[in-house]
Amino acid sequence: MRNPTNVNISIYGHDDDNGTYRVFFIIRLKIHFKNLVSSHLQEIVGAGVETTSAAIDWGMCEVLSNERIARKLRDELNEVVGREGYVTESHIPRLPYLRAIVKETLRMHPTAPLLMPHMSLDVCQDVGGYLIPKGTRLFVNAWAIGRDPTAWKDDPDKFLPERFLSDACSSMDVKGHHFELLPFGSGRRMCPSVNLAVPLVEVTIANLVHAFDKWELVLPRGKTTLDMSDECGIILRRVNPLIAIPRKKVII
Ligand code: HEM
Repeated sequence: MRNPTNVNISIYGHDDDNGTYRVFFIIRLKIHFKNLVSSHLQEIVGAGVETTSAAIDWGMCEVLSNERIARKLRDELNEVVGREGYVTESHIPRLPYLRAIVKETLRMHPTAPLLMPHMSLDVCQDVGGYLIPKGTRLFVNAWAIGRDPTAWKDDPDKFLPERFLSDACSSMDVKGHHFELLPFGSGRRMCPSVNLAVPLVEVTIANLVHAFDKWELVLPRGKTTLDMSDECGIILRRVNPLIAIPRKKVII
């Protein structure tokens, strides 16, 4: 694509110098600013939309395919929010099981499974026995870290929100301090929106569950369980989409 700034230079650069240069600069700056804002917005929307929606999708799949977990979450929501009314951000601190479900979702299904590509600014000596030369392109496999049996002793391939209520893991968060759990990365280039994204996922899953009496899974003919296969890319997507029908409960 042609750079609009260059187009401006050729059009206005040959004009007389009787005040035209002022016009030239104003227009050039305007276009530059517009491009800058537009590319920042594209980056934020691109980084924020699919990651968040995929996390909600995975969380709902896990809740709807496990009756025990769904019942426990409903009980917690009924107790804290009441049988009627929306779940809001102010309820979240009193919903430990919901928070555990979202952490467990991001452990097993980190929606940016390889984070973003990083590059070593300097040589790194002895990282797990390896020497990483300066300028190496690095991909951190958050998906594998979240299922590493040396870090997660209790059945790492099982969806078990209770692990985040146990003494060992209750203080663990997703903010890059605990290297066993890095769905948002860590350090200076970690996701800047972790404090927005986590409550967004929590409140959405909570309301989807709380607003209806139940959700009926629509499974392919002959299947009795939901297929949880994933497809690795920049975003961790489901191979088969979740289809579920909500059965109404009147709230508000
Ligand atoms: C569940 C939701 C989300 C997940 C799992 C997620 C995950 C991530 C990860 C893993 C990175 C790369 C970190 C690294 O390489 O160390 C990242 C970067 C980024 N995320 Fe998120 N993100 C989520 C939601 C959002 C939202 C809602 C926004 C914006 C509103 C956002 C904006 C960004 C931006 C701008 C970057 C690039 C930061 C940089 O390059 O310095 N993310 N995110």
